[in-house]
Amino acid sequence: MSMRLINESKINESNSKYQIALDEAERWLKVLSSEKLNEYQRRKVVKDTVDNFNSYYNKGFLEYRKSMTEAGQYAAVEWDGQGSIITDIMGRHFIDCLGGYGIYSAGIKHPKIVDAVSKQLHRMPLSSQELFDPLRGVLAELLGEIAPGDLQYSFFINNGTDAVEGAMKLARLYTKKPGFISCLKGFHGKSYGSLSLMGKAEYRAPFGPLLPEIHFVPFGDAEAVEFELRKAEDVGFGIAAVIAEPVQGEAGAITPPDNYWPRLREICNRHGVLLIADEVQTGLGRTGRMFAVEHWDVVPDIMCLGKALGGGVMPLSAFISTPKIWKVLEENPFIHSSTFGGNPLACAAGIAAIKVTIEEDLPGQAATSGEFLLKRLKEIQSYYKDYLVAVRGKGLLIGLEFVDNEFGYSVAAGLFRRGVLVAGTLLNSKVIRIEPALNISRELLEQVLQLLEETLKELTC
Ligand SMILES: Cc1ncc(COP(=O)(O)O)c(C=O)c1O
Repeated sequence: MSMRLINESKINESNSKYQIALDEAERWLKVLSSEKLNEYQRRKVVKDTVDNFNSYYNKGFLEYRKSMTEAGQYAAVEWDGQGSIITDIMGRHFIDCLGGYGIYSAGIKHPKIVDAVSKQLHRMPLSSQELFDPLRGVLAELLGEIAPGDLQYSFFINNGTDAVEGAMKLARLYTKKPGFISCLKGFHGKSYGSLSLMGKAEYRAPFGPLLPEIHFVPFGDAEAVEFELRKAEDVGFGIAAVIAEPVQGEAGAITPPDNYWPRLREICNRHGVLLIADEVQTGLGRTGRMFAVEHWDVVPDIMCLGKALGGGVMPLSAFISTPKIWKVLEENPFIHSSTFGGNPLACAAGIAAIKVTIEEDLPGQAATSGEFLLKRLKEIQSYYKDYLVAVRGKGLLIGLEFVDNEFGYSVAAGLFRRGVLVAGTLLNSKVIRIEPALNISRELLEQVLQLLEETLKELTC
């Protein structure tokens, strides 16, 4: 073939590829802007979603998600949501007790948060990166006001893992030491730094070697932290910081003994290492206080936030520290940066989320509803002791521990079929987490309890 013909056939090939992409994009943009879809169109959305996950995203999810395996004739494809209710494209309603793993503390589509974001969307969605963007400063100010003690300066990014990466870099920069002490079963994210702090083999093992000089201790055991610090001193390992979740989330809503955080604070002070509280899951009211460390009156040196910070509307995370520690970032502010971190849309969401959290006393609501739920769940447990072996948590971060993974999955699947979303996958269901919006109504919680009893009855009779 001549050079000209080869070039023409390449152009034709890419034209037809572009045409397919163009047609498909146009069709979906029409779907998005349709007020109402007919039955055929809705079924097509379900089919396309499954086909696209299968062919272009990750077919593993089709095997592992209850929205495929437990949804009956049509996979459950989310389409709309409000407060604590999610509606799929076929019009089925789900009570949201998973809360997107903690992002929906203010509920789905809180009107004040949506309003703030849409106003900013039409003014200036992303930052020029040169002119000063005002909302970044405002959000930092609000966090500085509400954060414990002298935590004052914030850096914004998009995911929890980004917040942990930043906290690790700040701790190393400030202390000039490389090591960290983390907790067994701890979860801090899945990028390389945060993964190195992960206390679970299944997520770490395939990706080693990870960062060196990370030492693991049991969660809730402050003496084990001190033992590690003494060992490190004896052999000359430099430790930058101790990091822990105030209440372990992913590990199954595990609350430490009441003296744990005060002891950590005292031990870190004595050994001259920083204390990092990973409040990505617990922050902004989830456990019944604005920040979980406030249950124990402890001020960490660095605090990580994420999930609920974006008000369930935008991805937003932060790490926050004291003026003294922040100085090392001021010497060269470009030493740690992010193109999209702290963008105006996310900051508008964060500002509105903080307002809603205070105005509606979301931490107080989490404390009251959490107490109610824990009491009722423990009553249910007393009838199903052989299957539901523990009920625990703080505020609305609640874990139900079942006798094994299989039984836990059957409960999560049974709840799903009854229209209740809880955390729990085919691979990880021994502990099912309940993390609803902090303003979920008592009526919905009563319904969830009734459906849980119904599910347990069905599975055990
Ligand atoms: C305590 C904690 N830290 C960090 C992360 C990572 O957050 P992301 O998935 O947004 O990166 C999570 C996520 O569940 C978390 O629970």
